[in-house]
Amino acid sequence: MRALVVYETIWGNTGSLAEAAAEGLRGSAGVERVDVVAATEAPPAIDPEVDLVVVGGPTHAFSMSTASTRNNARQQGATEIPARGIREWIDELAAPTSAVAVATFDTRTVKPRLPGSAAKKAMKALVAKGFRPVDSPKTFGVHGYSGPVADGELERAREWGATLTDA
Ligand SMILES: Cc1cc2nc3c(=O)[nH]c(=O)nc-3n(C[C@H](O)[C@H](O)[C@H](O)COP(=O)(O)O)c2cc1C
Repeated sequence: MRALVVYETIWGNTGSLAEAAAEGLRGSAGVERVDVVAATEAPPAIDPEVDLVVVGGPTHAFSMSTASTRNNARQQGATEIPARGIREWIDELAAPTSAVAVATFDTRTVKPRLPGSAAKKAMKALVAKGFRPVDSPKTFGVHGYSGPVADGELERAREWGATLTDA
């Protein structure tokens, strides 16, 4: 089995969780290769040898980020703003030639708990493209806007990654 993990991150939290999920996947039986790439570097079409795609991004304004919300992050002190997020990558992504398995996750601030999930929106867009969901969208908590990742969440992401091959 081959997997591709595509993530977007501004402060690095979603990136760390993407790496943790990839570690979990790598430890699963039958997994040959797991690549982890930022949305800015992600391919315009899924390689036919990839069986599972995992997509993760931060929740901004109750959904996936936009150029405008990423720009707002500057006002919260962010210095490295990616030119493209998972929303734009998914928009431009070619429909898969077969129903490639997909799982999504997002990060959200633990306090206050807000409604809305980038992972749910990403899943909806990916299913509309022809991907096949293997799990419900998952959320991992971060402290404030810039992090760090909340206690236990990296471990939970690792464990989640390890379950994704079951489906
Ligand atoms: C403009 C902006 C809007 C945000 N909106 C939400 C939101 O609606 N819900 C939420 O839980 N967190 C929200 N956050 C917090 C982000 O989810 C948090 O910054 C992100 O999870 C950190 O991950 P990263 O380091 O990978 O960017 C927002 C952050 C920014 C910068």
